[in-house]
Amino acid sequence: MPPWLIGRDALLSELDRVWSRGASQRRLVVLNGMGGVGKTALALTWLHRRSQTFSQTNLYVDLNGSRLVHPADPGEVLRGFLIALGVSSADMPADVSQRAALFRTATADHRVAVLLDDVASAAQVLPLLPAGPDSMTIVTCQWPRNTPRRRPDKAPQMATGFPVDGQISPR
Ligand SMILES: Nc1ncnc2c1ncn2[C@@H]1O[C@H](COP(=O)(O)OP(=O)(O)OP(=O)(O)O)[C@@H](O)[C@H]1O
Ligand SMILES: [Mg+2]
Repeated sequence: MPPWLIGRDALLSELDRVWSRGASQRRLVVLNGMGGVGKTALALTWLHRRSQTFSQTNLYVDLNGSRLVHPADPGEVLRGFLIALGVSSADMPADVSQRAALFRTATADHRVAVLLDDVASAAQVLPLLPAGPDSMTIVTCQWPRNTPRRRPDKAPQMATGFPVDGQISPR
């Protein structure tokens, strides 16, 4: 994370606005953009600024959506999240859907910040959404793929909706 971000005040304010709009709407932001445009840096900077707000739990995972490796397995990601939330290995459900259900239960009454970095698809994201009305989720998605790194002349695109079916980006 750079010590400061150049030209991101408006996007940081927009993240503040999403957080402050209240728990009646799901607080979820999707940051799209080509590689190196600053999606991860923006998300980490905002979360760092809000470290007091989310002092209870910050969950971060790199889902490898744009890398030449297998995208992260949601079951394994859920295992890591649940361990971070205090679930012991002995109590870890074997099944992904059971882990997702336990994750929703474990986050229902908590203020949790979740950063799902470099997702491949909406399907990869769905089991990883916290249930609590007081939570904030930031998703980043590289689009277009395989573009050069380090593009400070561009900026991430921000969307506050979420396509429940299909893919996060046009492709
Ligand atoms: N606004 C900014 N001001 C200064 N440095 C920045 C800014 N945005 C990003 N950077 C720096 O540019 C580099 C690339 O940023 P980052 O890793 O956040 O891109 P990304 O969009 O997440 O890329 P990828 O899709 O490959 O994950 C990092 O070294 C980051 O610190
Ligand atoms: Mg990134």
